[in-house]
Amino acid sequence: MDLILRGIINYVSKKSGLKLERYRESYLRRRLELRMRCLGIDDLSTYFRYLKTNDAEINELLNVIAINVTEFMRDITPFEFFMKNILPELSMRRKTLRFWSAGCANGEEAYSIAIAVLETLPECNFSVYATDIDEDSLEKAKRGIYSREQLKNLSGELVEKYFERVGDQFRVRDFVRRHVRFKRHDLTSEEPVTKFLDTIFCRNVMIYFTEEQKEKVIRDFYEALNSGGYLIIGKSESIPKGNFECVSLTEKVYRKI
Ligand SMILES: C[S@@+](CC[C@H](N)C(=O)[O-])C[C@H]1O[C@@H](n2cnc3c(N)ncnc32)[C@H](O)[C@@H]1O
Repeated sequence: MDLILRGIINYVSKKSGLKLERYRESYLRRRLELRMRCLGIDDLSTYFRYLKTNDAEINELLNVIAINVTEFMRDITPFEFFMKNILPELSMRRKTLRFWSAGCANGEEAYSIAIAVLETLPECNFSVYATDIDEDSLEKAKRGIYSREQLKNLSGELVEKYFERVGDQFRVRDFVRRHVRFKRHDLTSEEPVTKFLDTIFCRNVMIYFTEEQKEKVIRDFYEALNSGGYLIIGKSESIPKGNFECVSLTEKVYRKI
């Protein structure tokens, strides 16, 4: 890694607390290039000088690093698998179920989990713990107001049942919201994670991390899950062989052994 990039990583990590050295170098370079293009800067050392002399730039950079693209029931089929196979099985084991959306972005994944549970197990007592590193995303998630485009994977019937109209937007209804709790959490940190979980969704987050960091996060998830609990990752992701067995390779569903 060249010295300028190392300097930027150390500087941002020190200023923001985000441990950029735990993200893949190729990913960081692409995000830095994007930011530099926006500013019309074409070399890394000029960008580093700009970063050090413009306080607001740290946040701009962090915003492009923490890409928060998401949608309700993203990819759909893992949610169908969750509803058809995982939830009925979990409901036989326990009366109260606990879920975690790790890297929840603007909240769509967390509310999707809640809607999936309400649809499958209407009487179930459950909670969804939803975390992200990005404070702005968490604010949007807490507001729970979305455009019709963001709900495109949901049928008209589900939209009607779980959202109320606010002008031309849609607000998640209170009976869904009360199951979901949002909190800031950095997956690369040593902060303790919540425990006794039945399913963790961590989709399209670990792709940004180095292999070492990914292994650390997977170990944390292992500790956080109840025995037999599930981990669902993104469609293009994989996890190292270890203490999880693969339940569905196509849906990227794993179970704690
Ligand atoms: C592409 S979104 C994925 C959202 C959702 N899980 C999905 O699959 O639709 C990636 C999210 O990971 C979050 N993220 C990135 N680094 C993180 C970290 N170290 N700890 C927690 N969240 C992080 C970003 O802020 C962003 O909201």
